[in-house]
Amino acid sequence: MRHCERCRGFLATRTGLSGLPATVYKPAASRRQLSIRAAKTADGPSIAIVGVTGAVGQEFLRVLKDRDFPYSSIKLLASARSAGREYEWDGARHTVEELTESSFSGVEIALFSAGGSISKKFAHVASDAGCTVVDNSSAFRMTEGVPLIIPEVNRDAVGSMKAGKGGIIANPNCSTIIALMAATPLHRAAKVKRMVVSTYQAASGAGQAAMDELELQTREVLEGKPPTTKIFPFQYAFNLFSHNSPMGPNGYNEEEMKMVKETHKIWGESDVAITATCIRVPIMRAHAESINLEFERGISEEEAVEVLSNAPGVSIINDRSANRFPTPLDASHQDDVYVGRVRRDISRKDDKGLDLFVCGDQIKKGAALNAVQIAELLL
Ligand SMILES: NC(=O)c1ccc[n+]([C@@H]2O[C@H](COP(=O)([O-])OP(=O)(O)OC[C@H]3O[C@@H](n4cnc5c(N)ncnc54)[C@H](OP(=O)(O)O)[C@@H]3O)[C@@H](O)[C@H]2O)c1
Repeated sequence: MRHCERCRGFLATRTGLSGLPATVYKPAASRRQLSIRAAKTADGPSIAIVGVTGAVGQEFLRVLKDRDFPYSSIKLLASARSAGREYEWDGARHTVEELTESSFSGVEIALFSAGGSISKKFAHVASDAGCTVVDNSSAFRMTEGVPLIIPEVNRDAVGSMKAGKGGIIANPNCSTIIALMAATPLHRAAKVKRMVVSTYQAASGAGQAAMDELELQTREVLEGKPPTTKIFPFQYAFNLFSHNSPMGPNGYNEEEMKMVKETHKIWGESDVAITATCIRVPIMRAHAESINLEFERGISEEEAVEVLSNAPGVSIINDRSANRFPTPLDASHQDDVYVGRVRRDISRKDDKGLDLFVCGDQIKKGAALNAVQIAELLL
């Protein structure tokens, strides 16, 4: 189990104000250890990364290496702007090629992260060439017949799909993945009837250029200069605003509606009531979410902590006495989603409501890691 330096001081089990175990961590056996090199092997599939120069594309390279993903060859693809750029990866030099319709000949698995329009244009081309596509964009998430998968939640949705057989699998929206990593184990235990989510979303969710702009603006504001606003229409440094995705006629933006619709598809239950408010905050990496859950049957704080502490891919930081709960910095560069502030909803007379606070690295578990875990199901 890996933890950042900031977490390490909290590893000892302590007792919170209510007598709940304050911090609960999972046994190391549930995680894979970091390794130095990805596993190049003649038996592995030939793979391609579409959008390799972007925030998610770069994370793909790290995650493939960290998880010893077996591969026989790798192709790095991006736009013509990046063609010729070189990356040192797994002990060899790789040159970025321009993505074209012939890029997928002989490729068995393609990890797409170049935006919805590129996925719409090239994912079927790749699939028709026999390449199995794992797509990070929203292009196919709600398409009938396209599995939408969080491996810890609905791995069986992959069915009989395999590397080199064609087909498209969608990676859910990052905020949906982070929410459902925490909510699904509780849903299985006590059946969620209603979920109310408020998000605090990092710049990196909008790609590398948004991170660059937040850094630039922070410098500019501290130096008393007007902030550059090329990616977002507002000052982002020292500010927050409603998520930048398009607003729908019902007053919900697309990010909020993705959380509603994707949860219904992943859980296979459209009768769960869900509402979301998605906000961009000036954090560089890792999303946070406040989640209120209403259940069909009562569930105590102790049972909820127990359920979450046994859930794969979830770690708990829940130390009331030290006021120590998950932060985006705890979650940054980590595989797990961190859960804390587990408490009974006091607005209810019964024990059928819980509040949680959740943090997860949305470039990692919300995108690259989740997609690589899906690719592992294809081997
Ligand atoms: N960032 C996140 O946390 C996150 C989470 C979940 C899902 N996603 C999804 O993942 C995708 C990528 O996001 P990102 O944050 O990595 O964006 P990003 O940092 O802006 O990277 C975009 C990538 O797409 C490539 N690209 C753009 N136009 C292209 C073209 N015409 N042909 C080939 N490649 C092209 C870019 O290549 P050049 O460098 O050559 O322009 C770059 O590699 C999006 O669909 C996003 O919604 C992102």
